[in-house]
Amino acid sequence: MFSVLLVTFLIRPTQSFGLLTRAKYTTQPLDLKTRQQDELRLVTNMFVDSFWRGKVGGGAKELTESQNRTLQAQQYAEFRKRYSRSGLNSQLLLCKTSNGIITGCAGVEVDTVSTFAEGYEPRNGGSLWAQITGNDIPAKPEGRWDTKMKYAPLMSNLVVSRQFRRKGLAEKLVADVENVCLDWGYDECYLYVEKRNIPAVKLYQKLGYKTIWQDDKAKTLIPTKKGDLKSGSTIILCMKKQLTSRGKSYFSWPF
Ligand SMILES: CC(C)(COP(=O)(O)OP(=O)(O)OC[C@H]1O[C@@H](n2cnc3c(N)ncnc32)[C@H](O)[C@@H]1OP(=O)(O)O)[C@@H](O)C(=O)NCCC(=O)NCCS
Repeated sequence: MFSVLLVTFLIRPTQSFGLLTRAKYTTQPLDLKTRQQDELRLVTNMFVDSFWRGKVGGGAKELTESQNRTLQAQQYAEFRKRYSRSGLNSQLLLCKTSNGIITGCAGVEVDTVSTFAEGYEPRNGGSLWAQITGNDIPAKPEGRWDTKMKYAPLMSNLVVSRQFRRKGLAEKLVADVENVCLDWGYDECYLYVEKRNIPAVKLYQKLGYKTIWQDDKAKTLIPTKKGDLKSGSTIILCMKKQLTSRGKSYFSWPF
């Protein structure tokens, strides 16, 4: 009996130490100089698997080889185009474990954003339909870009790898993106999200983003179960957050 207790006592500290030692996650910008190609490939793999596989709106649970190849090529080209240019206001933040596994990413760049509808112009001009449905989100502004668009930071390509979800990593990535916006001298951040993407919409609402307009006639790419990639209809929300103070984390945080 005594030896059983002794063994238990001796083992327990090691076990609880194991439980207390949580993984440490860090965020850092895509390494443009030394590891650009490697990092881009790795983040592209993670993104295609985490975003395009099982995409909301009827996406395939598994991607066929051909879907995978096409999406990898498109995504890689998009990342290169957006985030490989030095000197411009564009950045891709990578979230990694302490041993270098990429667990998520989020991009931000200064781009043109439609903002005219903010705060006024009720949907359909305040029509009876708007009153009946109670949908007072303004429609996407149309027309001359110079009166309705402005340059502002736009967050995009936020993804967390499946096995690392619901640990608060997306919240941290968004906080880091917001800090980048503040560093660039902006006090606001915009994003586009599909209305039916409930996890993402809930995340943004939780973090203080408000819908400023919606586009009912938007299109999105969907990898189908049949193995092709088709364009499907969707509703896109444009959300905005007024940034007041720096987020809790900045490029590194221990859990
Ligand atoms: C959306 C996504 C980025 C969330 O990542 P995550 O690291 O799991 O999110 P977090 O752990 O930081 O969760 C923060 C909040 O988001 C919301 N949320 C996240 N996942 C959710 C889910 N499956 N259902 C409902 N709400 C969810 C919750 O409000 C949550 O807060 P809570 O834990 O207090 O309830 C992740 O699901 C993902 O990569 N999805 C696929 C890619 C995608 O849709 N990206 C958004 C493009 S606009």
